Amino acid sequence: MSYQRIGIIGGTGLTHLEGPEVTARHDINTVLGTPSGSVHEGLWEGREVLFMARHGHPHSVPPHKVNYRANLLALQELGAEAILAVNAVGGIHPDMGAGAIVIPDQLIDLTWGRESTFFDGSYQPLNHIDFTEPFDAGLRQALIEAARVLPAPVSDYGVVGVTQGPRLETAAEVNYLERIGCDLVGMTSMPEAVLARELGIPYASVCLVVNPAAGRSDAEITMADIQAVLDSGMNDVRDLLAAVLLSL
Ligand code: HPA
Repeated sequence: MSYQRIGIIGGTGLTHLEGPEVTARHDINTVLGTPSGSVHEGLWEGREVLFMARHGHPHSVPPHKVNYRANLLALQELGAEAILAVNAVGGIHPDMGAGAIVIPDQLIDLTWGRESTFFDGSYQPLNHIDFTEPFDAGLRQALIEAARVLPAPVSDYGVVGVTQGPRLETAAEVNYLERIGCDLVGMTSMPEAVLARELGIPYASVCLVVNPAAGRSDAEITMADIQAVLDSGMNDVRDLLAAVLLSL
């Protein structure tokens, strides 16, 4: 496995990347609209990277309004051969508390009304792609191995339930998500993961748990508490990304 250029899609708490030396900034308009923001091209650990902030920089585009298709097309146009996505999520599984990092292996898509395919018959002819394993096995394995650099263990499995947002869930919704098999809940893994698959770009995700999901702790979920976890947890995510780049 060797990729020339690696795309990184940063989520909440990762709107720019400290580390890479930025060599170019690309403002691209695609045939399917404008991406969330500029793509920063740079060198990190000697590797060519393309960084995009999913919610824009500063953070302003809500999960249901992100033009995921434009974001993916922009990265493809700039030559991304693999994509590492970072997602802030709520934790449902008891082992996945605030601050935990998870390399998920499965998804359940509960979003609605998002432009979620390139194969809609207008941009591309209708096609049905295999999505049995939504994340690329090689990238997942590389992330799991690179995670040894981190002080705390990283979960090497996890099912992400993807909700519409931007509101958080009710406690009953989280109970339902758990019953259908979700370990984590987030708002942005879909349609991003399937669009990457449709373009044939290997894609994997690093999830940072930023809060216990609704009803999983006695405390109200506040943005201040989430921000505190993001501030420390994203340093671990950056260390993980830097480490994995050496092996891709
Ligand atoms: N639910 C959905 N998405 C999220 C959450 C959550 O609790 N935390 C961070 N993203």
